[in-house]
Amino acid sequence: MIEDQAEVAFNRPLTSDTWLMGLRSAAISGSALPGQFVMVRVRKGVDPLLRRPFSICGVEGDLFLLLYRVVGKGSAIMTGIAAGGRVSVLGPLGNGFRISEDDGKMVLVAGGIGIAPLLFLAHRLGSREFRFMAGFGSADGIIPVQEVLDLSRPLQVSTDDGTQGHHGPVTDLLQGTLRECGTGSPCSIFTCGPRGMLKSVARIAGKDGIACQVSMEASMACGLGACLGCVVPAAPREARTYYHVCSEGPVFDATMIDWEAV
Ligand SMILES: Cc1cc2nc3c(=O)[nH]c(=O)nc-3n(C[C@H](O)[C@H](O)[C@H](O)COP(=O)(O)OP(=O)(O)OC[C@H]3O[C@@H](n4cnc5c(N)ncnc54)[C@H](O)[C@@H]3O)c2cc1C
Ligand code: FES
Repeated sequence: MIEDQAEVAFNRPLTSDTWLMGLRSAAISGSALPGQFVMVRVRKGVDPLLRRPFSICGVEGDLFLLLYRVVGKGSAIMTGIAAGGRVSVLGPLGNGFRISEDDGKMVLVAGGIGIAPLLFLAHRLGSREFRFMAGFGSADGIIPVQEVLDLSRPLQVSTDDGTQGHHGPVTDLLQGTLRECGTGSPCSIFTCGPRGMLKSVARIAGKDGIACQVSMEASMACGLGACLGCVVPAAPREARTYYHVCSEGPVFDATMIDWEAV
């Protein structure tokens, strides 16, 4: 884990409420894995006091990318940081996605801004066989992924209101894809998004015994495993009651989480 004063290479809007920031730090970029995140001090001083967690959504040379949605004070402050500015960043943190030869056809399922860590994963997968799908509320909220990273696979899109792509939840697209996965050609799921969506994906995966890694979000204070700010309930069969998202996640096997209690 590194604390760096990373130089902002660029910081620009992609949609009405989503921005892309490129930060220069050879140390963080050189060691980051898909699924890991950084804690950003959005400005000097004590307001806001806490760093904010953001997934690393890609790496290009010594640059690492953050795709962030403006939801409150910290993210609003970030939109005002110009190129050339410096930002205190702690990372890379967390465990990241585990990738193995046994994964078979990999299915990446994103909901909204949850696409950030999956973009990094999709980029790292290169020419390996995978499907990448993402759900958004409406066409005007769709993140133009080609402006973030060059991907080897097109993104399948769904919108809740049917203004672009499939009309309905992204889990419809997932179920369509999973029908193509037989016993001879296993699938595995990698997902990040709102909790309701993660619950649905975990249920679909669990029903057919499909391996599923979920990247969880939680409010974070320290980001280092020292407080209880980020805990999620462990599944009843686990030998413990909760996990720290920051230090034991943010990526978990879906079977580790108590989805009834989330
Ligand atoms: C491991 C991890 C990775 C993340 N990656 C990204 C990312 O790549 N891009 C991105 O846009 N966001 C990401 N988030 C969420 C991001 O950290 C919050 O949106 C951010 O901290 C909000 O800060 P704020 O000061 O703008 O909003 P605040 O003023 O702190 O909060 C505004 C609103 O956002 C909600 N909120 C705050 N923090 C979180 C959170 N952690 N999860 C869900 N809702 C929250 C609050 O409940 C409140 O309703 C990630 C969170 C975690 C834990
Ligand atoms: S944020 Fe403090 S333990 Fe995870």
